[in-house]
Amino acid sequence: MSLLLCTRRRRMSELVRRWREQGLSIGLVPTMGALHEGHASLIRRARRGNDRVVVSIFVNPAQFGPGEDYARYPRALSRDLALCRRCGADAVYHPGVSQVYPEGFSTAVQVSGLSERLEGKFRPGHFRGVATVVLKLLETTRPERAYFGEKDYQQLTLVRRMASDLDLGVAIVGCPTARQPDGLALSSRNAYLSPRERALAPAIHAALVAARGLARGGASPKAVERRARARILASIPQARVDYVELVDARTLRPAERARGRLRLLAAVWLGKTRLIDNIPVFN
Ligand code: PAF
Repeated sequence: MSLLLCTRRRRMSELVRRWREQGLSIGLVPTMGALHEGHASLIRRARRGNDRVVVSIFVNPAQFGPGEDYARYPRALSRDLALCRRCGADAVYHPGVSQVYPEGFSTAVQVSGLSERLEGKFRPGHFRGVATVVLKLLETTRPERAYFGEKDYQQLTLVRRMASDLDLGVAIVGCPTARQPDGLALSSRNAYLSPRERALAPAIHAALVAARGLARGGASPKAVERRARARILASIPQARVDYVELVDARTLRPAERARGRLRLLAAVWLGKTRLIDNIPVFN
């Protein structure tokens, strides 16, 4: 089957309605485009688990704050379509802003508790924008399964919460972070890094891995966080650390002790680029 490009919500809905009538299962991979090998692994995973695969490509203005990178966020539609085709997607949903947020649009989805901490503290309103657009994308494409990377671990947790709270009847599938051989997590924003920043960036993952060793050895959460932060700053003196936190992997509340299912998350500025990463501590 060749790749179908739908830019209108009605056309997308109509296509998935026909597929559903034929009893075909649908997997959705929501993205903002500028696709890389991390997205490719989500699409391939969706390909293995569903009869039809839809990739959405929409740079969602509602999840960017004032002064953030909405305008300069990388856009590369023809390369993205080629990657979707290569990975076996059946359709790409690429709506314009007015298809998603028509004139007068005034509804927002707030996943309380999970939205305000970590990323939410530094990017107020970000997760309201994410939850709202994800709900709309799920409504339009009606998938059995939707695939999200663990790289955006807070987003994955929050989307799972929303799907469960609102009885959406979709399975939210979390997929491992894809990394470069030197450990840097793949991200569309890596394209912003200068060659020097790119060379330094893997130190973030290395610091998380080293601090995880401390946690596994029984160090307190605060000591683990201090070690990760100190190691990042030792390797990248010009970095600015927004946060390094050891949290409960389900609730994202700060870990009280280094035990149970935990996740170590960090957000770090390298020059004008903000990178996030996280790793599981105990599975
Ligand atoms: O992770 C992303 O690319 C975006 O936050 C998402 C889930 C596509 C919503 O815009």
